[in-house]
Amino acid sequence: MSINHPSFGMLDDRRIIIFDTTLRDGEQSPGFSMNLSEKIRMAEALTELGVDVLEAGFAIASPGDFESVKAIAESVGQRADTPVIASLARAGQMDVLRAAEALKAAKRRRIHIVIATSDLHMKVKLRLTPDEVIQQTVDSITLARQHADDVEWSAEDATRSDPDFLCRVVEAAIRAGATTINLPDTVGYALPADMERMYSNIVNRVPGVEKIILSTHNHNDLGMGVANTLAAIQAGARQVETTINGIGERAGNASLEEIVMAIRTRQDAIPRSNNIKTTHLLRLSKLLATITGFDVQPNKAIVGRNAFAHEAGIHQDGVLKDAATYEIMTPESVGWKTNSLVLGKHSGRAAFRDKLNTLGYTIGDNQLNDAFRRFKELADRKKVVFDDDIVALVDDEVML
Ligand code: KIV
Ligand code: ZN
Repeated sequence: MSINHPSFGMLDDRRIIIFDTTLRDGEQSPGFSMNLSEKIRMAEALTELGVDVLEAGFAIASPGDFESVKAIAESVGQRADTPVIASLARAGQMDVLRAAEALKAAKRRRIHIVIATSDLHMKVKLRLTPDEVIQQTVDSITLARQHADDVEWSAEDATRSDPDFLCRVVEAAIRAGATTINLPDTVGYALPADMERMYSNIVNRVPGVEKIILSTHNHNDLGMGVANTLAAIQAGARQVETTINGIGERAGNASLEEIVMAIRTRQDAIPRSNNIKTTHLLRLSKLLATITGFDVQPNKAIVGRNAFAHEAGIHQDGVLKDAATYEIMTPESVGWKTNSLVLGKHSGRAAFRDKLNTLGYTIGDNQLNDAFRRFKELADRKKVVFDDDIVALVDDEVML
């Protein structure tokens, strides 16, 4: 069903809103803080990537956070192609007003309110009754709507909240004027089947839910962030909250590049669209790694150094014949120049010959056999065989 949203107008059923929280949830992880100019560089690159909502920070958290939300609102927030700029706020007057103040200059802005809804969080952390949580939800959304047409409300620890209470509080949030409702798996506890149950419960039982955007925000404590996000989409979520390289609290958030490429690669199962220019994905990943000083692991999907590298002989032979044998997406589609055939002890004759050709050598079969045997001996001793090693090896062959 189409939705008429204050920031996006009429949205058809297929469209997924990409909400990036690299600069807020991502930055909250130990060692990942960024200074103002680094945040602006990231915000510009995220805009060029095509994110729909950019959570610039948590305005009340510190004077520095306030300044960076404000600076992003005043710079990126003025561009013709600006995403919606968001600031997080707890469900209280001071937080909401601070977020509104920081966002004032943004052409498109969102106040994002969060309050916990699980029994554990309400009792131990907030020391509020469920009715008081509903009251704070309503009061803070009502106030936020005086400063922004676009207000998101998040039920922190939604996946461990009582399903009946979740329905009550979501209904109250919609009535108070929230235009996006987010049901986070704050502690990364849920399994994909839990997500389907939680979203279906809300979709089937809450009046007014058809007029708002349901959002999903998943942490990776059990490595389920992306799987849970995709399960939520299948059950009705239309906004996904993500970070570049999956950075975020503890084990991180669901990674933007993985979700976007899963949707693009598996259109048969997830027929949804978004505005991300996927050829920018590697650039964003590398920019963030340079700024924070944390590289992604080599086997990280999409952007890891090995994501399109092949060493095994059988695989290299297949890729040389047709890359689709072992690649489900092209390296170029996410910003790599090409795939790479890494020469090591698992490599085969086909990749070895291909490498020689690339290096400008055409040698006869006997010489090739000999050079290949010597290459295998070398590869047993070295983890990776570099181009210079091959040149030395073949030059020796030619001299013999
Ligand atoms: O994980 C979480 O619950 C959050 C909220 C603020 C959305 O980051
Ligand atoms: Zn989070």
